[in-house]
Formats: sequence, C-alpha cells, structure tokens
Amino acid sequence: MGGEDLRALLTSLTPEEEQLLYDAACEVRRSVYGTDVYLRGLIEFSSYCRNNCLYCGLRRGNEKCQRYRLSREEILECADKGYELGFRTIVLQSGEDPWYTDAWICSVVSQIKERHPDTAVTLSIGEKGRESYQAYYDAGADRYLLRHETINAEHYKLLHPEEMSRENRIRCLYDLKEIGYQVGCGIMVGSPYQTVQHIVQDLLFMKEFRPQMIGIGPFIPHKDTPFGNRNRGTLQDTLHLLAITRLLLPDVLLPATTALGTIDPGGREKGILAGANVVMPNLSPAAVREKYMLYDGKICTGDEAAECRRCLERRISSVGFQVVVSRGDWAGKETI
Ligand code: 5AD
Ligand code: SF4
Ligand code: FES
Repeated sequence: MGGEDLRALLTSLTPEEEQLLYDAACEVRRSVYGTDVYLRGLIEFSSYCRNNCLYCGLRRGNEKCQRYRLSREEILECADKGYELGFRTIVLQSGEDPWYTDAWICSVVSQIKERHPDTAVTLSIGEKGRESYQAYYDAGADRYLLRHETINAEHYKLLHPEEMSRENRIRCLYDLKEIGYQVGCGIMVGSPYQTVQHIVQDLLFMKEFRPQMIGIGPFIPHKDTPFGNRNRGTLQDTLHLLAITRLLLPDVLLPATTALGTIDPGGREKGILAGANVVMPNLSPAAVREKYMLYDGKICTGDEAAECRRCLERRISSVGFQVVVSRGDWAGKETI
C-alpha cells in the first residue's frame, strides 16, 4: 500500500466499507494470533519528568501534578503481585526521571528477571543514550516502548518544546532495534495540528521501521497543559487507524489502550474488534494511580490490580476473545 492508497483508506470509506475494514483486520489478526489477547501489567513508577511535552499532564511545567517515586521494594512487590495474577509481561513506565540511575534501573530489571525468569520486562522510560539502552538490555530487559508521537518534523515541533527533537527520538528507536529489543513506537490520534497527511507519513514510517509493537490511542486534553482546551481524538478515528495498522503490519502487537477505554466505556473492547490484541491493565499501587495523570479522566485510577485484571478478563471474553497467561512475544520473523 502506498501513500495515495493509505490516504484514500483514511478519508473516504462508507459505513459499510468501514465495517469491512474491521472485519479484514480481525481476520488478519486471527490468522496470526488466533483469539488470544495478551496482558501487560503496567507499573507507573515515577511521575517526575524532566521534559515538557505540550500535551502531557506529567510535563515539568505542570506545577499541579503530584509527583511520586516508587522504591525498589514497592516495584518488586507490584511485580510479584502481577506474577500471581498471571501477568508474564511487566512494563516499567515513568516520566524521564534522572533520579533513577542506569545502575538502579538495571538492578530492578535483573531482580524482576531473577524472581520471575519466565516474565518479559518492558521498559518505557524515554529517550536515553545508546549505552544506557545497552546496559538495560544486558541486565535482562526484553522490550522497549517509545512512541515517536509523529514522524513529521514540523508537527513534532508543534507538540514539543525547542529542546526536544524528532531526530533524537528516531535515533533512540533505531538504537533500540539494533541492540535487539522488541520495540514499540506509536502516535496519538487527533493530537493538535495533526493532519491526514501526517498519519499517512506515520504509517509509511512504521511500515519501514517494522516495530514489534505499536501504541495508538486518542489524544485527550489535560486541563493543566497548553493543550487543555483542544478537542480529544475520536473513537472512530482511533478504531479506523488500529484496523489499518493491523492490515499494514499483520503480526504487530497492538494494544487497545487505556486512553481508548477513557473516551468510550467500551473503547478497549471495540479496539479488540478493530484488530488490537493486547491490553495493559494497571499494576501500580492504588495510592499513586491518581498522580500518574497523562490526561484528564484516566480510567482505573481507583481500582486494585486484581480488580483491573478481572475486569479486563470479563471485557475481553464478552467480545469472544480470551486473555492468556503468556509472555505474548511478537509472532513475526526478522527480515534483515
Ligand atoms: N492524551 C493521550 N495520550 C497521551 N500521552 C501523553 N499525554 C497524552 C494525552 N494528553 C501518551 C504519549 C506518550 C504516552 C506515554 O502517553 O503518546 O508517549
Ligand atoms: Fe514526560 Fe513522557 Fe509526558 Fe513527555 S509524554 S512530558 S516525556 S511523561
Ligand atoms: Fe481497570 Fe476495568 S480495567 S477497572
């Protein structure tokens, strides 16, 4: 599929064609992953961030954001609880928080792997140097999530302050891939200034980069950010892009995101029916959840890990799929 075909798919479908698109995406996903849906247990371990992305509630300029850091013991406790609940992937996510040294991150990663050798550890802690990425990998980290947010340089500048660059973000992604991580990139749907042309460019970039995972969720404004009065991304646009992404990259791991569940009560189920095959319930201690507010209205902030796990299991089976106790590795094959 080239740029023109993608543009047509993004802009000119009748409701009947839209349904055909979802059905085709589901069929492709079924042929690779059956009806299995993979679980990732998310531990949001620090709400401090040195960056100032214009869209995000954790940006350093947001003085109202309540900041916290989890200790090593707290993180390990969450990981143990996750293991008991059947998670075989733990995602450690935070703002870009220099308080945690590379050595600290490496030791937590290796301790989780020691306690639970059959569990994959995913990091989502932002832009770092190649040596840092290599060190985490050597300590046992398997995967890394770093959304590229937009591949278009002008659009990137409109979403981020001067000191951040698209070039460094892309450099990170290629370093991660070369080191051997399973890598996730991704974008928000309906972010301020986003055009159809940008999305076409993102799709072409992802086709070329061939990430193992792609995070796609709607942009949702946060009241204490410069984009507080902007419109959110829509359910339909997000589902539409999930389906196209599944068709473009049949074996990609594609989460039905928390943001999708936030803009629509059945958003994640609908995401699965549009081609997604991963869900990422929250494993963070209930006491800190409200403080990790990337956007307004984030769901699951009042619930314990076990509740989220059960709730998602029910939601996934209600649409004919089952969550599985498995690392849920990428099913594709490297072509290079
Ligand atoms: N709405 C939706 N997603 C957001 N993120 C950050 N802020 C928002 C927002 N306001 C996403 C970004 C980031 C990921 C951790 O969360 O894409 O990469
Ligand atoms: Fe920090 Fe990530 Fe939020 Fe940007 S999106 S401000 S890097 S937590
Ligand atoms: Fe968290 Fe439903 S998934 S409470």
